Amino acid sequence: MKATFRRLLLLLWLVPLTALASSESPTQAQQQAQAEALMAAQMTEIDNATMPQVPLISSAEAAQAKGSGQADTAGLDPLWQAVRQGESGRTSSTSPFHNNFINQYDPGLLQHRASWLSTTLAMALFGMIIVFAAFVLVNGAAKLEKGFSGREVLRWSKFDIAVHWLMAIPCILLILTGLALMAGRFVFGDWLGPDGVAALAAMAKPIHDYMALPFALFAIIAMLRWMKHNLPAAYDLKWFTVVGGYLNFGPFKGKHPDAGFSNAGEKLWFWSFTIFGLAIIVSGLFMLFPVAMGTGRTDALTAIFVHGLSAVVITGFTVVHVFMATVLSEGGLVNMTSGYCDENWAKQHHNVWFDEIKTDGSIEYKSQ
Ligand code: HEM
Repeated sequence: MKATFRRLLLLLWLVPLTALASSESPTQAQQQAQAEALMAAQMTEIDNATMPQVPLISSAEAAQAKGSGQADTAGLDPLWQAVRQGESGRTSSTSPFHNNFINQYDPGLLQHRASWLSTTLAMALFGMIIVFAAFVLVNGAAKLEKGFSGREVLRWSKFDIAVHWLMAIPCILLILTGLALMAGRFVFGDWLGPDGVAALAAMAKPIHDYMALPFALFAIIAMLRWMKHNLPAAYDLKWFTVVGGYLNFGPFKGKHPDAGFSNAGEKLWFWSFTIFGLAIIVSGLFMLFPVAMGTGRTDALTAIFVHGLSAVVITGFTVVHVFMATVLSEGGLVNMTSGYCDENWAKQHHNVWFDEIKTDGSIEYKSQ
């Protein structure tokens, strides 16, 4: 009986204690809610005073999203629904991307870059080197039929030579470092490992960035200066049908199709270089100077893609060009070092040009 009374007394003590505890919780919760409300009010004041009202996605993107059915936001969190539908909001970000809350680009582009684009770029360099080396081994060089005459004809000015090398050297460095940046992880990642890929990228990135501007400058000068040599002519088609007379077998052997200052192959190289070179320069500027160019995220992704695709074309053609100039065309390389070509080389490979300068008297021989 005594024990039951003691237990009852204990329970009586517990009642006020529990009441006290339960009366404390709402007070703390209320205090916290009050503090949060105060803070929110202050933040709203700051926001209203300083933060611009910006759409979280651009109205064009919102309209596009609606048009393409992407605005079908069923099942999304209400915030994302509102943003997808072009709702305005506030941001404390000062980044140029602050009005790009949601990436609207097609993520498939990134997958294309990681898969076939980076592999194609690697193939454009290594594959083309293998194919062309095999071709030169089987075909042999295009020899001067009558040998060297010893008389040298002016072909390129000193300025042209300087422009060529100030464009070509950065271009080769850009090709190598660009390949490392685009294909390093996706194509060589298994051999290099993560640390190797990181080290390669760290080395390639500054070289790529610093070579971009000299390349762009001298490439544009070259495009403007050499365009006049590369206008199409009626005889260019014939040049292609006999592969320029560079094949040393079958019905092609010994053929010397007509060619002006530039032959049809060089014209194809020049125009590919001009079109894709400009694409690479413009897309590169979007990536190198995102603030000045106002590059949005969608623009950046498009630029990466255009850049890579153009690089494939330039890389493949550069390999062919370097092979042609160094090993395939006997007597061709000296043109871009001394500026003079052998008279027999001019007659064999650029007969129309040679006849023209001979006829109009503008031919200039190197003094012996
Ligand atoms: C080791 C690398 C290179 C060598 C040995 C080389 C050699 C030559 C030679 C000998 C010529 C004169 C051809 C002629 O007189 O018909 C030439 C022209 C030219 N090269 Fe290169 N080149 C190299 C790299 C490059 C690169 C990387 C580019 C591109 C950025 C380039 C673009 C051009 C262009 C556009 C022409 C003028 C084509 C024309 O208008 O007829 N070269 N090169």
